[in-house]
Amino acid sequence: MALDLDVPTLVAELESLSPRRMLARAWQLFAVDEIAISFSGAEDVLLIELACDLLKPLKPRVFSLDTGRLHPETYRFFARVEQHYDLRIEVYVPQTAAVERLVRGKGLFSFYTDGHQECCGIRKVEPLQRALAGLRAWVTGQRRDQSNTRTEVPVFERDANPGREGGPLYKFNPLAGQTSAEVWATLRAFEVPHNPLHERGLISIGCEPCTRAVLPGQHEREGRWWWEQADHKECGLHVGAGVSGSEGSA
Ligand code: ADX
Ligand code: SF4
Repeated sequence: MALDLDVPTLVAELESLSPRRMLARAWQLFAVDEIAISFSGAEDVLLIELACDLLKPLKPRVFSLDTGRLHPETYRFFARVEQHYDLRIEVYVPQTAAVERLVRGKGLFSFYTDGHQECCGIRKVEPLQRALAGLRAWVTGQRRDQSNTRTEVPVFERDANPGREGGPLYKFNPLAGQTSAEVWATLRAFEVPHNPLHERGLISIGCEPCTRAVLPGQHEREGRWWWEQADHKECGLHVGAGVSGSEGSA
């Protein structure tokens, strides 16, 4: 059970490791019930592939935030991943009363007119806090090349959210230094299952109303919240990081 970790020292150690070795270190530092992969239903499936291989016969904990607005393909992909890796994804859903208040007050597509923060707050950020409250560490698929808000994402950081029993919470971003091309080369080499939406031009995948395909040469993030400015394209899952070796994440 790792409680107070020396973050800059660990960042320096982890930065030079492959994603696989970083994950191995993560599960050395934390027991299997203390750490979970946060899975969006996109190419971050690579984390599940690597962790299942490292931990076998044990399984990593995996959680997903079901906003209620994901694509049908993403729900089916969750089921396929569960079957392929023989694990159950821990699904978190938003608070009923908060969703009802939002859609009764502002309709189902308020984010197109007054921004995505309120809806993301209800459908993603609040459920995430409940997911994190049971953990000492979490693992994300964030990469520095995903967005101009993520260029400084560290491989390891202390999260600003509290973890289990109100204690410190740590966050591993083992794909931070990988490019999209590198991740996809590995997914193809290991024949890892993928979300079929990727075959239809969607690169970065979030909720259905807030995700669209991009044209050749467009950056993947342009397919998310396309009606908003590039530097507003964070939904709140990854804000407020605490201490890290480099400056905080997006
Ligand atoms: S977002 O903040 O813009 O929605 P993005 O789609 O780039 O995030 O995904 C980055 C990482 O955030 C994913 O690899 C995953 O770890 C986490 N994440 C994003 N959406 C979800 C979700 N619905 N459920 C669980 N984790 C998620
Ligand atoms: Fe709501 Fe769009 Fe955010 Fe999903 S991505 S929670 S639909 S604003």
